Amino acid sequence: MTTTPLPPSLTATLPGRYYTDPEIFRQEQDRVFEALWFCAVRAADLEGPGAFRTVRVGRESVLVTRSRTGELRAFLNVCRHRGARLCTEESGQVRRALQCPYHAWTYDLEGRLIAAPNLVKMPDVDRAAYGLVKVALREWLGYAWVCLADEPPSFEETVMGAAVERLGDAASIDRYGTERLALGRRISYDVRANWKLIVENFMECYHCATIHPELTDVLPEFADGFAAQYYVGHGAAFGEEVGGFTVDGSAGFGRLPEVSQDQDRRYYAITVKPTVFINLVPDHVILHRMFPLAADRTVVECDWLYAPDVVASGADLTHSVELFHRVNTQDFAACERTQPAMASRAYREGGVLVPTEHHIGLFHEWLTKQLAT
Ligand code: FES
Ligand code: FE
Repeated sequence: MTTTPLPPSLTATLPGRYYTDPEIFRQEQDRVFEALWFCAVRAADLEGPGAFRTVRVGRESVLVTRSRTGELRAFLNVCRHRGARLCTEESGQVRRALQCPYHAWTYDLEGRLIAAPNLVKMPDVDRAAYGLVKVALREWLGYAWVCLADEPPSFEETVMGAAVERLGDAASIDRYGTERLALGRRISYDVRANWKLIVENFMECYHCATIHPELTDVLPEFADGFAAQYYVGHGAAFGEEVGGFTVDGSAGFGRLPEVSQDQDRRYYAITVKPTVFINLVPDHVILHRMFPLAADRTVVECDWLYAPDVVASGADLTHSVELFHRVNTQDFAACERTQPAMASRAYREGGVLVPTEHHIGLFHEWLTKQLAT
């Protein structure tokens, strides 16, 4: 069955089946997650040659490795012999080569087939033709972004462009030096909701006054539900009494060295479609990566990134991390409360987008176009 995309509407949400139908989810895997740039792993998680991570991208398992010369490479995690999954662990480190656990075909860190039992007795097997299948990879903000498409879309336009769209220029995000920051905390959330509910929730702040008391204490303008309209480059201002972006408004860790005066004491939120959210505050960066696993299940991995000296000093990050951890918990609970109702006849025609949510309508427009490609 193919699904005819609906004409998008800026006042109505997508119909409920878009959040529950496995066939629509399959189309999204094909035309969204496997067609666009997908933020896979944090580069610093692969330390030294031979480090590897496996990550699910759409329906594929992708293997990201660090080569002998220190670059990141990505391959489909499939042995070319009889198709066994090459690496079954989520992460690990090999000395110089990846060996398939089935018949021991062995690939170097560039994906070349370098050994196989009795290969010399198999002159018909062209070693060069049976290297691992390469996947396009770009590094940005300290993360490896991969794309399974044969012809990946422009990284500059489709990924980096989101920051420009939100902040007004490319340099603004560069000032946070995200690729040089250290991981302070990582929390993984297993959310029983469709990935689009999570995107839609992140894109609006109509719910902030209702479910985010700690966040609205720090960012008072979010309390009136209109914050999503803040204009390009503006960011949401901290309350006057607020010391930092912390759960109780106590002081944070100052300001990252290149963050400008006008970025100070402000919060910026960027959505990089399809699966990434970035929050910028003066002393840290919060980066969410979503891994949609089923129509009703999405794993969200959230990294809190700080100046390396803050992390190295062993500073207590609790108050800092706790603010957005609470926001995440509140948001994901809301998404999980919404998910079962997507299958209700009450939501057959979808719901309503109030005026502050019209950019969610633009997200639906983008998605339905993508599904029609
Ligand atoms: Fe990998 Fe046979 S399937 S070596
Ligand atoms: Fe929220």
